[in-house]
Amino acid sequence: MYIGTENLSHIYMPGTPYATKALDEVSFSVGEGDFALLIGPSGSGKSTLIQHLNGLLKPTGGRVVFEDLELGAENVDLLSLRKRVGLVFQMAEEHFFSETVYDEVAFAPRNLGLEEDLVEQNVRSALENVGLDWQEVCHRHPFQLSSGQKRLVALAAVLSIKPEVLILDEPTAGLDPGGRLHLFDLLRMLNQQTGLTVLVCTHHMDEVAALADKVLVLNRGKVVMAGPAPDIFARRQELNDLGLSLPEITEVMHCLAKKGLPARTDIYTLEQARAEINSLKRRLKK
Ligand SMILES: Nc1ncnc2c1ncn2[C@@H]1O[C@H](COP(=O)(O)OP(=O)(O)O)[C@@H](O)[C@H]1O
Ligand SMILES: [Mg+2]
Repeated sequence: MYIGTENLSHIYMPGTPYATKALDEVSFSVGEGDFALLIGPSGSGKSTLIQHLNGLLKPTGGRVVFEDLELGAENVDLLSLRKRVGLVFQMAEEHFFSETVYDEVAFAPRNLGLEEDLVEQNVRSALENVGLDWQEVCHRHPFQLSSGQKRLVALAAVLSIKPEVLILDEPTAGLDPGGRLHLFDLLRMLNQQTGLTVLVCTHHMDEVAALADKVLVLNRGKVVMAGPAPDIFARRQELNDLGLSLPEITEVMHCLAKKGLPARTDIYTLEQARAEINSLKRRLKK
């Protein structure tokens, strides 16, 4: 599995006084089983980029490629593409339109023409995969659920097509810390246990930092950093200069270093911090 862009540019409202260059020669790729993170300040082009990945937007320049398909091409079969690349929109629950959770989650597989008994199997496994009790929620009105549960239904509504790549736009926006942790636990489970490729776009890095294999940083439509997560999170000053805060645990490690302790600062998960602080204690005792 491969999805990526080559020198992708996008201009909104080209040729008008309102023309906005939202993406400027962006190249990146995500491979099979990756957990990739797309970060950047508000307005940097994250949503524009991911909407190219399932063919919602067409490139102004450059290419978008999924496997052997070129997504900007005239004759590309977008329906079959959207069976394989699932996109969870930002605040997706605001766009719910069905009377029941079942129908909401069944919408995409029905739209793709699946037989009703297969639709039911997919709806059931999607709801179970996000940790919702199928019997309990399937006949309820989506708006009767808590905000965390609604977000899970939005995720299930995309998992119900059994995509090969799952792309999420700011999936934790508006959730409380418990809801955020639960969501990222699910994404970790889906990525690690089922091998699903995941691309998360966010500016809230705390919980997701520990999951990421690779990170792409956008600013004003351009790629400003790209690479393995540890390398990117070590570049604290540059990230701060872009207005991006690092995971809190990384900031803690920087505070320790600033106080003169020989602590590593390229740390962004609790496990790494625990190990480093234990090692620091041992070193300081000597
Ligand atoms: N539908 C649109 N029409 C015109 N300009 C847009 C539209 N959507 C986004 N933009 C502009 O494109 C740039 C990138 O936006 P966006 O991709 O939404 O960034 P992000 O998701 O990183 O916040 C911004 O300058 C934004 O104002
Ligand atoms: Mg956005």
